[in-house]
Amino acid sequence: MSTIADRVAIDLGERSYSIAIGSGLLADPATYDGLPGARSALIVSNTTVAPLYAERLRTALAGRYAQIHEVQLSDGEEHKNWQTLQQIFDTLLAQECDRKTVLYALGGGVIGDMTGFAAACYMRGVPFVQVPTTLLAQVDSSVGGKTAINHPLGKNMIGAFYQPRLVVCDLATLDTLPARELAAGLAEVIKYGPIADMALFAWLEQNMGALLARERGALAHAVKRSCEIKAAVVGADEREAGLRAILNFGHTFGHAIEAGMGYGVWLHGEGVAAGMVMAAELSRRLGLVDAAFVERLTRLIARAGLPTRGPVLDAQDNAGRYLELMRVDKKAEGGEIRFVLIDGPGKAIMRAAPDALVREVIDACCAP
Ligand code: NAD
Ligand code: GLY
Repeated sequence: MSTIADRVAIDLGERSYSIAIGSGLLADPATYDGLPGARSALIVSNTTVAPLYAERLRTALAGRYAQIHEVQLSDGEEHKNWQTLQQIFDTLLAQECDRKTVLYALGGGVIGDMTGFAAACYMRGVPFVQVPTTLLAQVDSSVGGKTAINHPLGKNMIGAFYQPRLVVCDLATLDTLPARELAAGLAEVIKYGPIADMALFAWLEQNMGALLARERGALAHAVKRSCEIKAAVVGADEREAGLRAILNFGHTFGHAIEAGMGYGVWLHGEGVAAGMVMAAELSRRLGLVDAAFVERLTRLIARAGLPTRGPVLDAQDNAGRYLELMRVDKKAEGGEIRFVLIDGPGKAIMRAAPDALVREVIDACCAP
């Protein structure tokens, strides 16, 4: 039987929902109590996660739906596109799924983002449940209703805000996660420190070993605190009119790395990790933080086993290539790149920076 150790509420009026955090939740039918009734459900997963967990989820849902369908998508960021999304619609239509059908996103952020977008679009909106199975998805992507696919010219460029009805963070699923993916998830946990909670940052400095060893208590704390911070930000600014953009600390540089290297070469969390160092260094050069803070952040990122330097995207004009890619960022306004910067540890701000300074930061922060 499962243990719901914690619940975090996302307060969004009629779109409110909760995040259940515990071990063994996925396989417990009671986890799904309170969801809207329906004739059918569709489990959306991929060829890696489905063999591990789909049967358990299907069994847990068996008493709830007359029909449970399943679609297994190809695994990888490079498949987060229209062609793969179409497979979800193909299955929904082939199985004559109606507008009450509940979609279950079983997997990491790629599955969650695509399933959420499919749920937002199918018959103009059907309910969906996030069952995140990566640390990154449990602490970030499954919460808050951002759904999207990539376009060859930009990351997450086609999407919708669409909230799930429930998020089920089963910590036991993290046991099978490859070490590189666990580290990528830690990048998004680390992110919450500089932007909102330096107490969490200090806790991470003390407990990084326990997290890398996948101690359940440490993971539970990291997931819960991350979700609490994200819930507060999303509750205040669901559609990113302002505040929510701080959750993208490190992402402007990170998205450029992901797109510039080709989706799937650098993991999202790896791009964010190197991107946070670059954004911190830019903050320092703008006089917002001191060198000691940048060093402290860099040390913690390194301890998590994450890259602290960006890759060279163009041997001729590396900084130019970064700038070109960053101008496609969703936070850009009229071609002006807006960065999430740290204005003293624990506080983030959005602002533009002179190209020349950004170039200096890229030159200083990219390997070799
Ligand atoms: P992912 O979904 O690609 O999963 C990482 C890898 O781990 C995949 O190969 C997956 O099959 C495998 N996997 C998943 N769960 C597993 C398990 N329990 N055991 C073994 N293998 C498992 O990557 P991710 O890091 O979870 O998510 C990254 C994506 O999330 C990116 O596309 C990013 O843009 C998106 N994202 C979205 C938001 C948002 O707010 N919507 C926030 C952050 C990131
Ligand atoms: N990961 C950024 C956001 O949810 O807004």
